[in-house]
Amino acid sequence: FSFSSMSLKPLVDVHTHVYLPRYAAWLRSRSVAPKIMSAEGGEERLLILENEPSGGRPVGPQYWDRKEKLRFMDLHGIDISFVSTANPWLDFLSAADAHELTLGLNNDLEEYCSTGPSYSDSVLKRLYGLGLLPLVPGITVEAIVEAVNQIAAAPHLKGLIMGTKGIGKGLDDEALDPVWQAIEAASLVVFLHPHYGVDSNAWGDKDNGHVLPLALGFPFETATATARLILSGVFDRFPSLRILLAHSGGALPQLSSRLASCIDHDPVVASRLKHDARFYLGKLYFDAVAYGPEELGFVSEVVSRSKRFETGSTIKGEADRREGSQRMLFGTDHPFFPPLTSTEKWKSVVENLEAIASVPGWGESEKDGVRGGNALSLFGL
Ligand code: URA
Ligand code: ZN
Repeated sequence: FSFSSMSLKPLVDVHTHVYLPRYAAWLRSRSVAPKIMSAEGGEERLLILENEPSGGRPVGPQYWDRKEKLRFMDLHGIDISFVSTANPWLDFLSAADAHELTLGLNNDLEEYCSTGPSYSDSVLKRLYGLGLLPLVPGITVEAIVEAVNQIAAAPHLKGLIMGTKGIGKGLDDEALDPVWQAIEAASLVVFLHPHYGVDSNAWGDKDNGHVLPLALGFPFETATATARLILSGVFDRFPSLRILLAHSGGALPQLSSRLASCIDHDPVVASRLKHDARFYLGKLYFDAVAYGPEELGFVSEVVSRSKRFETGSTIKGEADRREGSQRMLFGTDHPFFPPLTSTEKWKSVVENLEAIASVPGWGESEKDGVRGGNALSLFGL
C-alpha cells in the first residue's frame, strides 16, 4: 500500500499534544509543579513550572479528551494527527515511577490511536502517536531501551517525543548512545521539544505573561540542545537517526553559520566533527510551526544549503527552498495557543496554514508536501 499513489492529499498535524487521563490524574495528585489544581467555578489550572507566570493556565477536556482532539481536527480540516504527550513528560518523576508510567502511557496512547476512527476509506487511522521514554536521572539504559522496543512494537506509535534533559546531563551524554542506537535501529522518529526555556532571570520583572519564555526561551532551548547533539558527534555516530525539531528548529537555523564559524575557530572542537556544522541541519526535520511565510522559506533554504557542505553543490536559491521544504511538516501545537476571544477557527492554526500557502519559492507540490505528504513519508505510512 503506497499512499503517494493515491490522489487524496491529507492535512497532517505532527505537533499536537495530549495529557492522557493517566497522566492528568498524576498531575492532579501533586502539590508542587508540575500539577493540575482546582480553581474557581470548578475549573482547573495547569502549572508546569514552579515560577510560572500568571499562575499557570486554564486546562480542560481539550488536554485529555479524544473527542475534543477530533473535534479540533474536523474544525480545521486536519485529517491525521501524530499525538504526543505535552511537556514536562516524566522529567519530575523518580526512576521507578517514570519506568512504570512510561509503559502505561505508551499502552494508553497506542489504544487512543488504534480504537480511534479511520481516515477516509483507507487503511490509515486518523490518530497516530509519539510515545515516551523514561528519561530521568537514575534510570537504567535497559529500562529506556525497553521503552524504545515497546514503542517499536506498537503498531500506531511511530516515534517518540523527548525533552532536552536526557537522564540529567542533557542529550550529549555518552550514556545515551545505546538509546540512540536502539531508536535508529527501530527507525523511530524523535520529536525534540522544549520545556525549560532559558534562565528566567533573562525575562526581567515586568509581567509579560508567558510571552518571553514561549517565544524566546523555548526556541533557544531547542537550539542549544540540537547544537550540543551536533557537537557531541551523535549524527556522525548514528547517521540514520531522524530528529524532528519543534517550532521549526527554534533559533538554530538563524544561527547555524555562526555555530559553524565558532566551531572552526575553536581549537577544542575544530577537528572533532566529520562535517561543517551546517551539514547536520540537512539531517534534521523541522515542523512548520513558525507562523510566518518568510521564516518557513528561510528554514527551507538553510536546510537544503546543508548539501553544499557534503557535495560541494552551489546555492540555487528558490530550488534550494523547494528541496528543503521536504524536511518541513505542518503542526498546530494544539491544545496550546487557543484563541482568547471566541472565533470559529484557531488563529494559531490558520496563521500556520496561511504561512505555508504563501512561502516565496514553494510551488503547489512543496506546499502539499509540508501540509501532509512529508509527514506520511517520514513516518512511513
Ligand atoms: N506551551 C507549552 O508548555 N508547551 C507547548 O507545547 C506549547 C506551549
Ligand atoms: Zn508543543
